[in-house]
Amino acid sequence: MSHPLTLDLTGLTATVLGDQGPAAADIAALAPAARAAREAILARHARGELGFFDLPDDRVTARACLDYARELPPAVDTMVLLGIGGSSLGPRALYSALARPLDALRSRSPGMPRRLLFPDNADPVTMRAVLEVCDPNRTVWNVVTKSGGTAETAAQLLVVADHLERALGARAKDHIVATTDPTAGALRATATARGWRTFDIPSNVGGRFSVLTAVGLLPSAVAGLDVVGLLDGARAMRDRCLGDDPATNPALLLASLLHHHHIARGRPMVVLMAYVDALYDTADWFRQLWAESLGKERSTDGTVIETGPTPIAARGATDQHSQLQLFVEGPRDKVVLMLTARQRELEVTIPDTELAHSRAEYGYLAGRGMGVLLDAELRGTIGSLARRRRPVGTIALDRVDAPSLGSLLMLLECATAYAGPLYRVDPFDQPGVEEAKRLAYAALGRAGFEDLARGLPPITTEGPYVL
Ligand code: PA5
Repeated sequence: MSHPLTLDLTGLTATVLGDQGPAAADIAALAPAARAAREAILARHARGELGFFDLPDDRVTARACLDYARELPPAVDTMVLLGIGGSSLGPRALYSALARPLDALRSRSPGMPRRLLFPDNADPVTMRAVLEVCDPNRTVWNVVTKSGGTAETAAQLLVVADHLERALGARAKDHIVATTDPTAGALRATATARGWRTFDIPSNVGGRFSVLTAVGLLPSAVAGLDVVGLLDGARAMRDRCLGDDPATNPALLLASLLHHHHIARGRPMVVLMAYVDALYDTADWFRQLWAESLGKERSTDGTVIETGPTPIAARGATDQHSQLQLFVEGPRDKVVLMLTARQRELEVTIPDTELAHSRAEYGYLAGRGMGVLLDAELRGTIGSLARRRRPVGTIALDRVDAPSLGSLLMLLECATAYAGPLYRVDPFDQPGVEEAKRLAYAALGRAGFEDLARGLPPITTEGPYVL
C-alpha cells in the first residue's frame, strides 16, 4: 500500500552515524519502553481522555464547517481568526500549506477563495492594521479559544465586537463565529447570550491537538481547502500509528529514536527544517506541540525532573545561510529532521539565456528549475550533516496536498503523545502556561488573583545592573 508520506530515519541510526547512533540491537532494546508508552497512551484513549485520535472519523463536523462556508454571503471575502497558541498555529499551518502562496495579499475579486488572516498576538499595532484592512461588511471574525478565558483572545474579541457594533449595529452578530468548549468557559456563555454562531472543540481535545477539530476545519472550509482529504490522510496515518511494533509504527519509531538521542546521547534539540515554504508554518506548529507537551517540571508521579526536548523550526535553504553553521559544526546536541515534498506544485525554470552563460557563477543554473536547486541544497545539507555523523532524518510528502498534510500532522501528534510516557510526563497538560496566564491576570488586577499580584516582580528602572 502506498502512503502519501515517507519517514526515513536511517540517518538517526548506526547505519549512517556509526558509533554516534543506535545499532539494530540498540533499537530493538528500545522496543519494550516504546510498547509500554503506546499502551499507556491507548489506555488513556480507551478511557475517553484523548479525543485527538478520533478526529479523523468525525465527518459531521467537517460537513457542518463546509455548510457554514457555503452559506456565507458571497460578499464576505475574509475570515480573521482571533486566538493564540494551539487555537491559531494549527489553522495557520493548514492555510500556509494548502492555500495559494501570498493569497491574503492578492486583491480580492469575485470567485477567488476567501482569505484568512491570523493576527495571533495581542500586539496593538497588528490589531489596528487588521481592523484597517478588513471591511466590516466583507469580514467574519472567528474567535477561537478552548478555555474561553485566554486574555489575549478576550482582548481581541472585545476590540472587534465593539468595532463591529459601531460599524454594523445589530448585524454585527452575523459577522462573529465562536469556536470553543461545548459547554464551559466565558466564550461559550457569551456566544449563547449574544446569539453568535458556534462550533465545538471537544472537551477531550486540548489546544495544541485541536487542528483537526473545527479549530482548523472551519477556517480551512471557509478558504476553500480540502477538509475531507485532510481527514482522510490523518485517518490513514492514525491507523498506521496504532500498531505496537516500532518497526512498522512510524510515530512510535520517531518518538523512540528522538527520546534515545536526547536521553542516551545528549541531543535534546530537534530541528524541523522545511525545504518547502508552504510547510514552514507546520514546523512552527510542531514547535509548540513538542515543547508544550514534553517540557515539564514534574513526572507523572510528581517527582521534580525538569525535563524536555527543545524544538527548533527552520527553513531551507534560507537557514543554510543562518543557523546551519551551528547545526553542522556546533555542539552535537541536535537531531535534524528535514521536511520536504517529492513533487513540487510547479516549477520555475531558470532561463537558458546569454546572461546565464556569461559567467561560471550562473551557467550551471541555466535551464534548471528553482525546485531542482532547492532539492540540491537539501541533499547538500543532509550530506554535510551525515559526513560529520550528525543525526538527520527526512519526512517526505509525496506532494503538498490535504491528504499528505493530514498524514503529517497526525504522525507528529501521535509521536508527541507516545513521547510523553517515554519522558515520564503527561503530554496533554501545560501547568507552566496556565501559571503564566494567571500571573498576567494578576498583573492586570483581575479580581480573584490579588495574592498572585503580590509576588510579581516590579518593572525595574534603577539598579546596579540596569543600564
Ligand atoms: O495547547 C494549549 O493548550 C495552549 O497552547 C493553548 O492553545 C493556548 O494557551 C490558548 O488557549 P485557549 O485555546 O484556551 O485560548
